Amino acid sequence: MTTLRTKVVPRASRSRSDTGSNVRSFDRMYTWSSDASVESDVSLHQLAPYIGRMKTAMARSLLLRHTRPADTIVDPFCGCGVVPLESAVHNRRVVAGDWNPYAVLLTRAKLFPPRSLQAAMSRLDKTRALARRLLGRQDLRTIPSWVRRFFHPETLREALAFRDACVSREEDFLLACLLGILHHQRPGFLSYPSSHLVPYLRDRKFPRATFPDLYERRDVFSRLHAKVIRAFRRPAPRFLKRRRVHDLDARQFVKVRDIGAVITSPPYMNELDYVRDNRLRLWFIEKRLPKNIEVAGAGRAQAFEDLMRSVCARLAPAIRHRGKFELVIGDATRGRGRRGRSAAIVQSLFMR
Ligand SMILES: C[S@@+](CC[C@H](N)C(=O)[O-])C[C@H]1O[C@@H](n2cnc3c(N)ncnc32)[C@H](O)[C@@H]1O
Repeated sequence: MTTLRTKVVPRASRSRSDTGSNVRSFDRMYTWSSDASVESDVSLHQLAPYIGRMKTAMARSLLLRHTRPADTIVDPFCGCGVVPLESAVHNRRVVAGDWNPYAVLLTRAKLFPPRSLQAAMSRLDKTRALARRLLGRQDLRTIPSWVRRFFHPETLREALAFRDACVSREEDFLLACLLGILHHQRPGFLSYPSSHLVPYLRDRKFPRATFPDLYERRDVFSRLHAKVIRAFRRPAPRFLKRRRVHDLDARQFVKVRDIGAVITSPPYMNELDYVRDNRLRLWFIEKRLPKNIEVAGAGRAQAFEDLMRSVCARLAPAIRHRGKFELVIGDATRGRGRRGRSAAIVQSLFMR
């Protein structure tokens, strides 16, 4: 068992707070079980890495404690889709959103996977056949040099052709699989040796002269084939019909009626730069980097407060009686141990 200080905000009917919710309790010591290890999670959770990802056991614990089957669960900062996928696995309805295209792609891939390994393999074969036809169109001279630096040219051409085939066939799941094996130092991945989460080349640790085999062409298809098999090692059960994933700013989150619970982890005081940290995978999705994601500068605390105020005010009134607003809040430590105040900021919105 792991004990963690988190903020659980149940909602009653009406109040004069900024969020339109009447808080009955706020600050709780909350205990969640980490017994259920990664080895027993459905394997879709491991489709691809994401910085700031919530632990699956934490999402599961919040969900099972505070919601019932067929409830509608909303996650407006869904990231790689841990809360949405666990919700679907446990027969809840899901409405999720994020403004990061990589987050949206991963969450869609997890909520709308192929029905079986066999179905996935058939889609992989068709996508591969199209990728072969698109190979001749890949002109590496049009690719930014910072992207080219990560790959052997032939590997990059194949990966780009497969990417184009996924986009043309609207294959979110297979594109997510490609991004899941895009960069790492292990042989099952496509890049030259690099880190897995945030893309940095590891050419000092693995110099080309000493490790020439790590700089050879890597076959994209055989690695994708293995990746798809891994994604179905512990398959998800059949999901309920209502699953929606929106590509939007949480401040403009869609109207949802009769919410059973909002379960979400907002950006840590806007400390992370989700474009910089996901840049290689983001570039692969749209062959450019997104422009609409603002990185808060000096006014992080104010930007965080404004964001939380508008998101909570939008969603809290739509939570049904005895529903829950569960915020998992992380404080980032900056400079000389200066801590953020994200929990205090959110608390003030609800308690005013
Ligand atoms: C802490 S992460 C969420 C992690 C997620 N729970 C998971 O397990 O992957 C915060 C997320 O908020 C998203 N985000 C930040 N500001 C946003 C905004 N204004 N609208 C929508 N999403 C936003 C980021 O892209 C990031 O995915």
